[in-house]
Amino acid sequence: MIKNKHAKLFVGFFLFLMQHSFAQNDLSQLPPLLVSQNGKSISTKEQWEKTRRPEIKDMFELQMYGKVPGKLKIASVKILEMDNQALNGKAIRKQVRLTFKGNGKELAVEMLMYLPKGKKSFVTFLGYNFNGNHSTISDTSVHIAKAWNGPSKPRSAESARWPIETIIQSGCGVATMYYWDIAPDRNDFTIGVYPLLYKQNQLKPADDEWGALAAWAWGLSRGLDYLETDKNLDAKKVIVIGHSRLGKASLWAGALDQRFAGVISNCSGSGGAAISRGKEGETITKLNANFPMWACGNFKKYSNNESALPFDQHMLLAMIAPRPLYVASASEDLWADPKSEYLSAFYASDVYKLYGLKGIETNVFPKVEDPIIGQVSYHIRNGKHDILLYDWNNYIQFAHQLIK
Ligand code: GCU
Repeated sequence: MIKNKHAKLFVGFFLFLMQHSFAQNDLSQLPPLLVSQNGKSISTKEQWEKTRRPEIKDMFELQMYGKVPGKLKIASVKILEMDNQALNGKAIRKQVRLTFKGNGKELAVEMLMYLPKGKKSFVTFLGYNFNGNHSTISDTSVHIAKAWNGPSKPRSAESARWPIETIIQSGCGVATMYYWDIAPDRNDFTIGVYPLLYKQNQLKPADDEWGALAAWAWGLSRGLDYLETDKNLDAKKVIVIGHSRLGKASLWAGALDQRFAGVISNCSGSGGAAISRGKEGETITKLNANFPMWACGNFKKYSNNESALPFDQHMLLAMIAPRPLYVASASEDLWADPKSEYLSAFYASDVYKLYGLKGIETNVFPKVEDPIIGQVSYHIRNGKHDILLYDWNNYIQFAHQLIK
């Protein structure tokens, strides 16, 4: 009887430790978010903006994602197609080609947009798709994208990830581009945007110059440059969104480019929202080994050496403050590690507090499908690594509630 009680207590204590230990361990190991490099503590939003945020930006730029090696603006815009009666008359559809020029080379990127009709000011979600614009919807007017990696995917192959009708019905717009158009998702720096900015005889980016995540992030900002010129929407209300590797890119884009009104990371995991220290599933070592082209060359020195990182991913999320931020996970996505994603949002919340805003208030992991929607939002969906209607429904609510 007593033994039994002890056993129960022991198991209970063990479970408690499981729930809380990671948070407590990590808190002490994380580089301090609110202490500047000269050792001064940061206690106001002015100090944050003037001193700490730029320090953090520089660290991520030089050590992790890599810097953009030059300026490259949109050279020309061509409206390829527009229809005011799309989706049974509910939406405006637009397909636009953005062309970039550099070193005698050209890069063309197509953006597909669906915008709600009869509204003046609404939120537009901007994000990449994995398989070409035509893969997001069955609409046969959408151009079939050039496939960069094998045969073209069928129309609407990725449509479960893009509930476009629901988004339009909610009164929001959506704009998407194919990420390979900007930079290839393989260890190849001969195509995509890179060669347009090479110096003479350069064959690949230097160790502190962009990897693919930074190139994709750059492309999202150029997408926003275009949206700022488009009279059919309000570019002050653009939320940058991405799933998985494209969520990593959307976070870096949103962190750097403060024109984005809000930022959503869906299952972005390692190198995205998740704190690297103590991370389960995909570690920095694995990320660098399997996807050497994503981060910059300098980041390789942190393989098997996470504790040497002068920053961690909660600082990336903090760079988004005070703008609304949404981090989401999926219960079976242990590779991304939901707990490390959640804790990152929790720690980043300290910077939101400097602005008098409420972030994530507890490090106790929330229940599955019990979303926290606020300036810093989080949910964990039931199921696999993916972005699905459940996620979008919450993002739509977040957009309506927080982007004014
Ligand atoms: C791999 C990779 C992840 C990435 C994911 C995806 O699983 O290890 O880091 O997020 O692909 O982009 O789907």
